Amino acid sequence: MNKEIIVSGIRPTGNLHLGNYLGAVTNFVKMQYEHNCFFFIADYHSLTTHPNPKDLHNNVRQVLVEYLACGLNPEACALYIQSDLPQIPELYMMLNMHAYMGELERVASFKDKVRNQPNNVNAGLLTYPVLMAADIIIHKASKVPVGKDQEQHLEMARTFGNRFNRIYEKEIFPEPFAFNYGKELVKIPGLQGGGKMSKSDGDGNVINLIDSPELIRKKLSRAVTDTGPNEMNTKPSDAVQNLFDLMKIVSGEDKLLHYQNLYSNCAIRYGDFKKDLAEDMVSFLTPIREKIAEIDANHQLLKQVVQIGKEKASESANKTLKECREAIGFKPF
Ligand code: TYM
Repeated sequence: MNKEIIVSGIRPTGNLHLGNYLGAVTNFVKMQYEHNCFFFIADYHSLTTHPNPKDLHNNVRQVLVEYLACGLNPEACALYIQSDLPQIPELYMMLNMHAYMGELERVASFKDKVRNQPNNVNAGLLTYPVLMAADIIIHKASKVPVGKDQEQHLEMARTFGNRFNRIYEKEIFPEPFAFNYGKELVKIPGLQGGGKMSKSDGDGNVINLIDSPELIRKKLSRAVTDTGPNEMNTKPSDAVQNLFDLMKIVSGEDKLLHYQNLYSNCAIRYGDFKKDLAEDMVSFLTPIREKIAEIDANHQLLKQVVQIGKEKASESANKTLKECREAIGFKPF
C-alpha cells in the first residue's frame, strides 16, 4: 500500500466528546499503522476564545491523555502539541500575505462566529483557515481525517497551498483532501435535536468520553424527542432520527431495527428506548473512561510523549519551512 502523509488535530476545549471520537480519533487510531501520520493538539487555534493560562494547559493535557486512551501510539505516529512547533506560525504568516479578506469573510465558520459572538470577532478568527492550512501543509499532507464540518477548511488549505506553489513557481505543497474509512465524512448528531454534537450548544448536547454512567443516563433521559408517531405520521423528527443514528453506532443494527419497527407500528415508548440507548452508550464508553483514568495518573509518560512528538514533527516542519523560505527569497548570506 502507498503510504500517505496524514495530518489532523483537535482544539483543546476541555474533554473530547463522542463526535470528536467517531468523527476523527477512531480514524487516527487505524491510520497510524498504515500511513505516515502527524496528530496534534491545536492549542494555537484555541487562543481565538482567550482561554486563561491554567485552563489552556489543563485542556491540552486532557486531550493528550484522551488521545492516548483512545489508542494513539506515540511510537507509530507523531503526536505533538501545536505550540511546540514555531514553524507553524511562521508558515501561517507567509500564507497570510496571500490570503484575501473577501475569501476569508465568506467562510461559513467565520460567519457563524460573527453572528454568535459579535463582541469577539478578532483577526485570529478571520484567519483561522490560514492557520489550519499551515498545520496541514507544513508536513505536505495529502489526507486529513476530519468530520464533515471541516470540509470547507480543507478546500481553503488546497487554495492556499496551490497559490503559494503558483506564486513562487515551485511544487512544494501537494493538495490535501478530507478522508476517512467510510464512503462519507461523519457527522455525529447532538442530543438536543439540532445539528452536530458540539460543545457550543451546551454540555447537555454532548456525550463526553469521560462522562460517568449516571451522567450519560441523565443526559439521554433529557435528550429531545417529539410527541411520537401516529397513523398519519410515521416519519421520525430530526431529534428522534438523531437518537436512532446514535443507537446504530453504539447498539448495532439489530437493536436499531427493533426500535424502528416499534416506531413504524406506533408502539415505541421513548422512555424505554432512551434507557436502552443509555445502557449501550455506557458499555461503549466504559473501557475508554477507565483507560483515561489510568493514563491521567502517569505524568512521566505524558512528558515523554510530548518530547518525542515535538522532535518528530519539528524534523518534518523544518524541511518544509526551509523550502518555503528559499522560495520566497529569504536566503542565507
Ligand atoms: P474541532 O476541535 O472542532 O473538532 C475535532 C475533530 O472532531 C470532528 N468533529 C466531529 N465529527 C463528526 N461529528 C461531530 N459532531 C463532530 N464534532 C467534531 C471535527 O470534524 C474534527 O475533525 N479546526 C479543527 C481543528 C484543526 C485541524 C487542523 C483539523 C486545527 N488544525 C488541521 C485537521 C487538520 C477544529 O476546530 O476541530
